[in-house]
Amino acid sequence: MNAIEVRGLTKTYRKGFLRRRVDAVHAIDFAVLQGEAFGFLGPNGAGKTTTMRMLMGLIAPTAGTATIFGHQIPNREARQRLGFLPEAPYFYDYLSVSELLDFTGRLFGQNAAERAKRGDELIELVGLQNARNSALKSYSKGMLQRAGIAQALMNDPDLVVFDEPMSGLDPIGRKDVRDIILGLKEQGKTVFFSSHILSDVESVADRIAIIVRGKIHDVGRLREIVSAQIGTEIVMQVASIDKESEGQLCTKADRVRRHDGDLTVMLGPGSDIDAFVRNGHDLGAKLISITPIHETLEDVFVRAANDGENETTPASSDAEASS
Ligand SMILES: Nc1ncnc2c1ncn2[C@@H]1O[C@H](COP(=O)(O)OP(=O)(O)OP(=O)(O)O)[C@@H](O)[C@H]1O
Ligand SMILES: [Mg+2]
Repeated sequence: MNAIEVRGLTKTYRKGFLRRRVDAVHAIDFAVLQGEAFGFLGPNGAGKTTTMRMLMGLIAPTAGTATIFGHQIPNREARQRLGFLPEAPYFYDYLSVSELLDFTGRLFGQNAAERAKRGDELIELVGLQNARNSALKSYSKGMLQRAGIAQALMNDPDLVVFDEPMSGLDPIGRKDVRDIILGLKEQGKTVFFSSHILSDVESVADRIAIIVRGKIHDVGRLREIVSAQIGTEIVMQVASIDKESEGQLCTKADRVRRHDGDLTVMLGPGSDIDAFVRNGHDLGAKLISITPIHETLEDVFVRAANDGENETTPASSDAEASS
């Protein structure tokens, strides 16, 4: 059984006086396996938050279905096993993080001893020990984000849904969140999170989905999505060869960089690497390295975003607004 299963999930908003249609999420399908960290990637306005809010039962889908641990949402049993960090967590300014967690524990029906124990563990996990009794209004954005993560974990959920958990955090804070996600995975929990920070997704997600303009563009293992080899980088030492020979070598390459007596070139897919290296050798250059270059997640993301831009969007046409 999958942790999350989404089939044809759609959310259409009606906006403004003319009730203009906005297809925030359009017939998306994907599944999140139990025990994996699943990254949900997409540019601003792609539909990430809308999807998460539907999964949490906070807004109703216009069409399609979703199940959480096999229960069709909204479902009370599923809700008990879920933790949620909203995009912009809102707290009572005058509470401290211990009070916030105590309050959350009460909502889940935990007794005082359970609440105190769990609260202490989580405050330590997110590194807020020194601020545990300060009012949340004195917290920095990063500290509030940590408090939100602690709150999402108060009921010891099997599945956590984190909307942009790294947002507003400095590099150390981002690493802490990455470690929290990896720790949750180690405990066998499932993590479904969105992020703009590609390197964070790359370092923790087992699988990802890329959503653009309400549609899923790619789903799969990171390695599959970013496997295409886009070229080969060759570094040669050319300090001792003359300018003319160097120029001759460069005409065969796509991208050329010269630094400190080293020549770095990029050869496109299908180029004859052997011939290039032999030619360099004959001209007196010394080979230093040959490295296959793969597409990065960032390349994939930019390509998906561009594809989305080029598509026509019946989603927001006024003609359909009156239907
Ligand atoms: N309550 C609403 N009423 C009308 N339109 C909405 C509403 N909420 C979201 N939208 C629209 O739905 C689309 C998707 O928004 P959503 O917040 O889900 O995107 P997102 O991927 O989370 O973006 P971001 O990266 O900026 O957080 C956007 O075009 C947005 O303007
Ligand atoms: Mg969002």
